[in-house]
Amino acid sequence: MDSPHEVLGVEPDADEATVVRAYRRRVKETHPDQGGVAAEFQRVQDAYAAIEAGEAETTAVPDARDIDTDGVDTEAADPEPAEAQADAARLEYLDYAVLAEQGWEIDDGDLFEKASKADLDPDAYGRLLVNAGETILEAAEERGFSWPFACRGGACANCAVALIEGEVNMPSNHVLSDGMVDEGIRLSCMSRPASDELKLVFNVEGLPGLEELRLPSQQFR
Ligand code: FES
Repeated sequence: MDSPHEVLGVEPDADEATVVRAYRRRVKETHPDQGGVAAEFQRVQDAYAAIEAGEAETTAVPDARDIDTDGVDTEAADPEPAEAQADAARLEYLDYAVLAEQGWEIDDGDLFEKASKADLDPDAYGRLLVNAGETILEAAEERGFSWPFACRGGACANCAVALIEGEVNMPSNHVLSDGMVDEGIRLSCMSRPASDELKLVFNVEGLPGLEELRLPSQQFR
């Protein structure tokens, strides 16, 4: 058994920024999609959750060999959102790269109307259905699109999208500031629809503040 701080490799009195940095590093090291071990990934998630909940002093994280990883959700170790989730949602998407090409702004009120008339490639603009239980990133990938991502654990901003219309549940976010969330930025790997209709812009790494939150994605491909 280790303390949550030992699992993350930080001192017991580490400040929040240090803990978050350590968590992001450990997610990269242990994610099963990237060659890590599921039990160790689970330990990292449990350790971070205990620290976040203020329960680090009273929590001991079992050794990896004692953890049953059957059914571990490596894409969202946090519990499923308690809020109601739409059965299936219609999602209208637009690639942020198109905005620069067309001279559009992300806060243009008629952004999606212009996109619908611009004869754009389906990779750049279109509609898809997000089935119940799917994250937005999963839905896009299921339909053959290659939207950006890295950790799949809420610890980077590679998968960020700008939500223009609709609601999502995002049960875990270890990287976006409150201000970014207020402006509609969401993590597509963690977000599931909470409304029947959504409009979003993906590939928004060029928006202020997001570039520095990204992780090097080549480690995850
Ligand atoms: S891929 Fe890292 S937070 Fe979504």
